[in-house]
Amino acid sequence: MSDRSKLIATGKPFKFDKKYDTEFERLVKRYPSRESMILPALWLVQEQEGWVCEEAIGYVADRIGTFASKVYEVATFYTMMNLHPVGKYHICVCRTLSCWLRGKQEIVNYFRDELNLTPGKTTEDKKFSLEEVECLGHCGSAPVLQINGEFYENMDVDKVKKLLATFK
Ligand code: FES
Repeated sequence: MSDRSKLIATGKPFKFDKKYDTEFERLVKRYPSRESMILPALWLVQEQEGWVCEEAIGYVADRIGTFASKVYEVATFYTMMNLHPVGKYHICVCRTLSCWLRGKQEIVNYFRDELNLTPGKTTEDKKFSLEEVECLGHCGSAPVLQINGEFYENMDVDKVKKLLATFK
């Protein structure tokens, strides 16, 4: 798993574009305190940019009216927050017990051998990124992958091969 304590700065200021600014203002009314908006605001950042940069942490803190350290804590705790740019298809392989016992490593090895893709990395063409993540909550149908938010269950190397062939 990649180092989740370090943020990457882009050197450019971050702000929500109009769509996400509107969504932020809509959501903020639904929460009892503005600090409850940290995670939803980070999701909006990730939807807009595909990942969460250092500048976005400060921006979210300012929009919410809290400390950047609190936003940082949330962003670095949840593995579903991408702290580096990811490929068009962001593949998360569950590495927790059920998936580990039922063959997740063969799938990870397939990515390494066939795509030269290891956890925390992106292919040169920026098409695929790979992460190993904690339990995805579908343990009864292990091993489980999540790709761009969609779940793929009871996977094996053959199924992964067929699935990747459908991605343009
Ligand atoms: S252990 Fe993999 S989904 Fe729970």
